[in-house]
Amino acid sequence: MSIQAYRNFSQIITLVPAWKKDGRNLTPDDMGVIENASIVFSDREIIWVGKDCDMPEEYASLKGTQCQGKTLLPELVDSHTHLVFGGDRAHEYTMRLNGADYEAIGNAGGGILNTMNGTNAMSRDQLFNLGVERIERLHSYGVGTIEVKSGYGLNFEKEYEIAHVINDLKKHFKNKIQIINTYMAAHAIPKEFSSSMEYMTSMVIPLMRKLHAEGVIDVVDIFHEQGYFDAEDTALLLKTAKELGLGSKTHADEFYDNKGAILATKYGALSTDHLLRTTDDGILALSNSRTVATLLPGTGFFLGKEQANARALLDAGVKVAIGSDYNPGSCHCDNLLLIASLAAPQYKMNITELWCAITINAAHALGLKKQGAIMQGLVPRFSVFNVDRVDLITYNWGRNFATNL
Ligand code: NIG
Ligand code: FE
Repeated sequence: MSIQAYRNFSQIITLVPAWKKDGRNLTPDDMGVIENASIVFSDREIIWVGKDCDMPEEYASLKGTQCQGKTLLPELVDSHTHLVFGGDRAHEYTMRLNGADYEAIGNAGGGILNTMNGTNAMSRDQLFNLGVERIERLHSYGVGTIEVKSGYGLNFEKEYEIAHVINDLKKHFKNKIQIINTYMAAHAIPKEFSSSMEYMTSMVIPLMRKLHAEGVIDVVDIFHEQGYFDAEDTALLLKTAKELGLGSKTHADEFYDNKGAILATKYGALSTDHLLRTTDDGILALSNSRTVATLLPGTGFFLGKEQANARALLDAGVKVAIGSDYNPGSCHCDNLLLIASLAAPQYKMNITELWCAITINAAHALGLKKQGAIMQGLVPRFSVFNVDRVDLITYNWGRNFATNL
């Protein structure tokens, strides 16, 4: 077991106080800032963290990498992306700028079904290569754990292939970037099916069982929304995931309050995402559960729609995460930190709530229980930035300070 030390960071932001509060009801004092800080870790776990002058004798002799002028944080996690897709929807974005509506474009055969065609036109190798390029770009901003959803194949063969492409990406980036493979064939209903339930029972569920048996997928997701999948479809998916021991998520309450957040908590989903329309009963259900509320403000910005009521969720003690939702249609922005920095003042989040939303709570939204804080015994996953104070990162919207050591 090799032991390494990184020494003399200007700051280490441990987020340990936030971790101890399970990422809920956070105050600005819960950042856990250590100045002139050092960290000792093995391949598997963090062994020691503290002020460099307090480093125990046994580690002080380690040569270590000098990190003056830099700041270390728990690793940034993007817990919601749809980054395996072919083609683009730039013309739809322009149509929307010129007055067209996202739902109307979708109903007219654009939207997800448009990307389905673009994706089906790509070979497995092409999709893999695009995935590599996109994951490397997300990583260049300091994000080290990335959730990747399938869902633009929308037929048995292509969804099977995409789940394997994500698995290949996972292997390709092993030891460097952690990838969570989310199966989301329940993303839209292809025209050849007469109902959402027919698509669920003849395609989504059987393929999910097959991919699970092959050990390829980690989590499942569904677009629980009017005009897409209803409560019955969602319950079937969540129930089957539970039986198989797979984690689950839903896209819920985005365009309408369909009580999706409540349904997700009933099945113990890892997270429920979007939540623009969630009302008091949904907030209450979330506050009494471990289901993370993942907000996707980039989508609100991109679609020019209103944002989720983050403050109500936070004040109720809900675990709140922020994801990028990087996808070709509703948020073609892959920079999680930019999105979170822009959203925080609108959401009226304090600084700890902001960082916790893209570290601890984002990790929990993926079922990753051993990362999110810089604490002895947790896995050594962290992000390093070329700044001597953490405040500079969120202050400089869109500037990239991420660095490797
Ligand atoms: O999270 N809501 C469903 N999926 C994506 C949109 C996908 C698309 O427009 O291509 C989302 O916003
Ligand atoms: Fe999404």
